[in-house]
Amino acid sequence: MSKWFYWNTALLVIVIVRVVTYFSFPKLTLPIIFGLIGFLFFLFNWTRNAVFSTIRNVDDRKTKIKLANLSKKVMPFHRYTGTIALVIIMIHVFFIGYWYGFSFTNIKMIFGLLALINLIFMVMTGWWRLMKPTGKLRRIHLRLGISLFFLITLHVLF
Ligand code: HEM
Repeated sequence: MSKWFYWNTALLVIVIVRVVTYFSFPKLTLPIIFGLIGFLFFLFNWTRNAVFSTIRNVDDRKTKIKLANLSKKVMPFHRYTGTIALVIIMIHVFFIGYWYGFSFTNIKMIFGLLALINLIFMVMTGWWRLMKPTGKLRRIHLRLGISLFFLITLHVLF
């Protein structure tokens, strides 16, 4: 199994802990609801990377085929789930701006903003690959995914 499954699970646990320990829980505010849903859409797409890396590393042929078929089934929606993640996160940011405003001295907001910019490029390169499916774009898209994963981790931790 790819190490990304463990990283993804760890981040999911961090986000869940953050949400359930939120002061108003079980009642959640709109920024938190949209932040959580947007994050889940991102994680759903990012798990595909964990599946791919397992396919590359696993020895058992049957498991390889099973995972490849699973990945193929999800693939037609990949660009749409990524785009939905971006739209939902934009709503999250709208509510944050509306309720709290924006501050460059707030580390959570800085990491959030960097994650948003990263997500925009991620979605753009995802659609771009449809028109120009090059290896270079594939690598850029993958690296953007890795940096997005760490930026989101920093955003929820601080
Ligand atoms: C990919 C982009 C983003 C994702 C996936 C995301 C996700 C989340 C999640 C899951 C939470 C709830 C957990 C927590 O409190 O840590 C959250 C909270 C928060 N986010 Fe984001 N976010 C993103 C971008 C942004 C941006 C751009 C900003 C601001 C400019 C922002 C500001 C905040 C703030 C201030 C909170 C705490 C709200 C509160 O305590 O009431 N986020 N975000």
